Amino acid sequence: MIEQVKTYIEEVQNSSFQKMDELEAFRIKYLGKKGLIPALFGEFKNVAKEERKEMGILLNDLKNAVQDKITSLKDQVESLQDESGEYMDLFMPVNKEAGSRHPLAIVRNEIIEIFSRIGFTVSEGPEIEDDWHNFTALNFPEEHPARDMQDTFFIEKDPDIALRTHTSSVQVRVMENNKPPIRSIFPGRVFRNEAISARAHCIFHQVEGLYVDKNVSFADLKQTLMYFAKEMFGENTGIRLRPSYFPFTEPSAEMDISCHICGGKGCNICKYTGWVEILGCGMVDPNVLKSANIDTDEYTGFAFGMGIERITMLKYQIKDLRLFFENDLKFLRQFEAAI
Ligand code: PHE
Repeated sequence: MIEQVKTYIEEVQNSSFQKMDELEAFRIKYLGKKGLIPALFGEFKNVAKEERKEMGILLNDLKNAVQDKITSLKDQVESLQDESGEYMDLFMPVNKEAGSRHPLAIVRNEIIEIFSRIGFTVSEGPEIEDDWHNFTALNFPEEHPARDMQDTFFIEKDPDIALRTHTSSVQVRVMENNKPPIRSIFPGRVFRNEAISARAHCIFHQVEGLYVDKNVSFADLKQTLMYFAKEMFGENTGIRLRPSYFPFTEPSAEMDISCHICGGKGCNICKYTGWVEILGCGMVDPNVLKSANIDTDEYTGFAFGMGIERITMLKYQIKDLRLFFENDLKFLRQFEAAI
C-alpha cells in the first residue's frame, strides 16, 4: 500500500490541465466523498502497526499534493477561459476582420498625396515648442492674445515652453534647417486651450504648406490652392479668397470653397451662403524669412494652413468634431471602405 500511495503522489505532481472541468474531475477523483484519499484514510486502520507512521505521513503528503496542484493550476486554467465560459483556443487562426484607418488619417494621407503630386515633400516638427518657433519667429507681437494663457497650454514659463498652437512652428524649423527652394507640407497635432464643443476641441490636427523660392507670387498660391480644392472636393469646386490677417503672412487671406454639398445653391452645411471656409494662407511675411536668415531680396514664399478635422467633416458630412476622439467603433467602422 505504501508503494501505491507513492505512485499516486508522483501521478498528482505530474498532472496538468487545460480546462476547468478536467481540474474538477481531478479534484473529485482524489478528494471527493468516494474519492481515493477518503478511501485510503478508511483503510488506515488495517495498516500494520510498524508501517502506520510512514503511511500517515504519506497520506498527508498525497492530500497536500492534490491541494497544491489545484491551487496552482486554478488561476492558470481560469485565465484561458473568457467571460462566456469559453476556453481560449491557442491554435485558432487569427481573426479575419481587418482594422481600418481613422477618418482623420485617411484625409491626412489624401492631403499628403495631393500635394506630393506637385512636388511637395513632408516634414514634421515637435508638439512641444519654445516661444521662438511658435510665436516670436512668426512675427507675433509681444502682446498678441494668442500668446495668452487662455489660448495656449504652457508647460514652463520663462523661458516659455508650450504645446504648439499651430503647425506654423514647423515653417520656422524647416526654414532654419534648409536652404530655398523649399516646397513642403507639415501635418501634425496642435493644441489650444478651448472649451470642447461640436465645432472646437483642445486637440486637433493641421496641415501646413510652405513654398519658398525665387519669384514665388500670390498667383502661385492661388493656383496651388485651387488645384488642391478640386482634387479634394471635385472638379467643379470653386475657390474664393477673402482678405484676412495672420502675423506671419502679408498679405493674408482665408479661403472658401464653393459648397460641395449644394454646389453653391445654399444648404445647412454652408449656412445658405454657398461657401465654406477651409484654410488660412498668405505670402510669408519678410520678417519671418529674416528670422530664419533667408535673404528677402532674393526669395519670397507662400504659406497656408488647414484643419484636418474641418476638411474631414466637410468631406464626410460629420456634424460633431468630438466623434473623432471618442473611439466609438460604430462611428469608426463606417470608414472601413475608405483606405
Ligand atoms: N497658423 C494659422 C492658424 O492656425 C493658419 C495659417 C497658416 C495661416 C499659414 C496662414 C499661413 O490658424
